[in-house]
Amino acid sequence: MVHERFEPPSGRWENPEGIGGLDLLYLRVRFDVSFFMLMLRRSVDSEWAPRVTRSLHDLLVDHAHLERKAATTAIQLEKYRELFPKVHTLNRIAMEELQHFELVLGLLEQRSWAFGQPQRSEWITGMMRGVRQGRRESAIDHLVVCALIEGRSCEKFQILAAYLAKNEPELSLFYQSLVESEGNHYATYLIMARDIDLEETDSRLDWFLDRDSELMGHRHDLCILH
Ligand SMILES: [Fe+2]
Ligand SMILES: [Fe+2]
Repeated sequence: MVHERFEPPSGRWENPEGIGGLDLLYLRVRFDVSFFMLMLRRSVDSEWAPRVTRSLHDLLVDHAHLERKAATTAIQLEKYRELFPKVHTLNRIAMEELQHFELVLGLLEQRSWAFGQPQRSEWITGMMRGVRQGRRESAIDHLVVCALIEGRSCEKFQILAAYLAKNEPELSLFYQSLVESEGNHYATYLIMARDIDLEETDSRLDWFLDRDSELMGHRHDLCILH
């Protein structure tokens, strides 16, 4: 069953009527996901794709770590009391991220490229620094940051799919194949935060969207996703 869950940026993410079971929040969404739908305020610069694909090996290693961290983050979110009822949804996200991790490792192995060290992302670090202290505040902020990381991944996977289509068709298809899943994670995390507090989530989302926009202006020369 396909649910149309994306709304225009002025809209709000809310639970569909009649859905009380939180696991049912994990909905299949039909994509293409546009920049507009993701509510982002600054687009990825046009030089980004050529820059990060200079070393596909480095990019895939970074991507593998990103999926690994996404899996562990989903499990870490289960520590928040507010998210105890969502434990199965979070487990499901963690399992999907682990599957993505395996897929990226498979691509590395196909090319006889070694798995390697993670690289630090100034963007992710900068976003995480904005998470407030206090359990409830931290839960909301952590979910909003997770949503925006998923949203940026969703956006960047689409850019990579288009950029790599001619010379790396297999990788291009692979990136396109992840878009729906990451878009669902984006939506699910935002819905979870709004379930805790709608007004506060929207206010924090506004704050983090500005922070994302500012951090996106800091260029780096690493072959990493974020
Ligand atoms: Fe993923
Ligand atoms: Fe994800």
